[in-house]
Amino acid sequence: QLLIIDFGSQVTQLIARRLRELNVYCEIHPFQNVTDDFLAEFRPKAVIFSGGPDSVTRQGSPRPPASVYELGVPILGICYGQQVMMQDLGGQVEGGKISGGGGTAEFGRAYVTPTEQRLPFLDGWFDGGREQVWMSHGDHVSRLAPGFEVFGTSPNAPFAITADPQRQFFAVQFHPEVHHTPNGKRLYENFVKLAGFTGDWTMGAYREEAIRKIREQVGDKKVICGLSGGVDSSVAAVLIHEAIGDQLTCVFVDHGLLRLGEAEEVVTMFRDHYNIRLIHADEQELFLSALEGVSDPEVKRKTIGKLFIDVFQKHANSIEGAEFLAQGTLYPDVIESVSFSGGPSVTIKSHHNVGGLPEKMGLKLVEPLRELFKDEVRALGRELGLPDSFIGRHPFPGPGLAIRCPGEITRAKLDILRKADAVYIDQIRRHGLYDEIWQAFVAILPVRTVGVMGDGRTYDYACALRAVTSVDGMTADYYPFTHEFLGETATRIINEVEGINRVTYDITSKPPGTIEWE
Ligand code: XMP
Repeated sequence: QLLIIDFGSQVTQLIARRLRELNVYCEIHPFQNVTDDFLAEFRPKAVIFSGGPDSVTRQGSPRPPASVYELGVPILGICYGQQVMMQDLGGQVEGGKISGGGGTAEFGRAYVTPTEQRLPFLDGWFDGGREQVWMSHGDHVSRLAPGFEVFGTSPNAPFAITADPQRQFFAVQFHPEVHHTPNGKRLYENFVKLAGFTGDWTMGAYREEAIRKIREQVGDKKVICGLSGGVDSSVAAVLIHEAIGDQLTCVFVDHGLLRLGEAEEVVTMFRDHYNIRLIHADEQELFLSALEGVSDPEVKRKTIGKLFIDVFQKHANSIEGAEFLAQGTLYPDVIESVSFSGGPSVTIKSHHNVGGLPEKMGLKLVEPLRELFKDEVRALGRELGLPDSFIGRHPFPGPGLAIRCPGEITRAKLDILRKADAVYIDQIRRHGLYDEIWQAFVAILPVRTVGVMGDGRTYDYACALRAVTSVDGMTADYYPFTHEFLGETATRIINEVEGINRVTYDITSKPPGTIEWE
């Protein structure tokens, strides 16, 4: 396997993405954890040094252990990683000035041209004479380490591509993993090929390996899995079931804040189709009564989060002899980030999860998706036969419809909301837009407005449609529906859903808005 040593770059995860796309298995570890002992145990077949925000000219800046250069495996240094390599191996790095004074700092697009010499690492590069790359550096290499030569230059980075071909050490000043280095993938492809990877890490292989590991970890013990109906917990449940069958019991907590038909869908799919032991904890009454009179968004979240844990625990306790709790934790949650900023970040919303539960219940964790990115989880889901409609579903928040019903939650409002949401999603599907949208839903507003239908006056709720595009939910933009679509949808909702007489479309991006209304 391949080791990525993280020096704190914003884009380290992208390096892993590029390698996974090449069917090469890799892991990211923060530089603090990479010690001599770690390397001896991990035994990487190749190593990549990520970029990072620090300056190697600063005393005490992050370094890998010296033994990494003695492993006899190819190493690729990127940006800060290049500078680390140069300085460790006897070259020199200088600080650049950001602006003025003949500075050499470089940010953004640049073009690299080849030198005389060729290198297998650069196969498929420079076919068109030069390559566009993305630079982001303050410091620069000013003297090469012994054994290194230059293979590519840019106006501000005379050492844009350097290498010691003998030892198979490669070092580049730019970021090949980002979108703005269009041919960057080719460098990773060449690098892994030189390191002897054959690209055999596929989903089929992952499935077999994951099943073997689950069996090994669990033995003949029992596992509990909280099933939400979301992609991650669904894929985890089906995978674990394939490994250990009836030793797995799933607990599905129905808090009464689910979408139309959702509970039945989950129960049918997992109990009837997959034959998974499933406890359907129908606790609607409990949750809805606890939420009566609550209108503060944070109080809603906390109330639901706490009850969720209580309910889950109650049902889990009824499963005798369970020793493990399965969770659909993904790789981005696992990667320990290298934080240089310090200081607490502001809590915008307290996201609901079941953290702390395993310790409280004395359970060990089974996390078969820990190594995967979201799109890989979807690929694994497909591999396991989960229907596309399930795998491609928009994210749905833990507190469910509670946070799409600003103000006080009532059963009547929830019913109206569920119906309106179903019509809206149906519209989106009919128009073939579902997969283009990251998340779409209706929020029922805490205002009633006057309308006229037939010859009569109406006084009903207003609702807001929300649809956003996003890559990770951290930032988002509203989806540019056509006026025809919006008009048709508004008409359908008002005609088909009793209790709503006005429809608005939310055109706020994130930031400054958030995706959900609460
Ligand atoms: P916001 O509203 O913060 O949402 O822009 C970003 C993404 O997170 C989801 N979300 C939640 N998910 N528990 C969850 O499990 C929560 O409390 C929660 N709040 C928001 C939201 O649906 C969107 O995908």
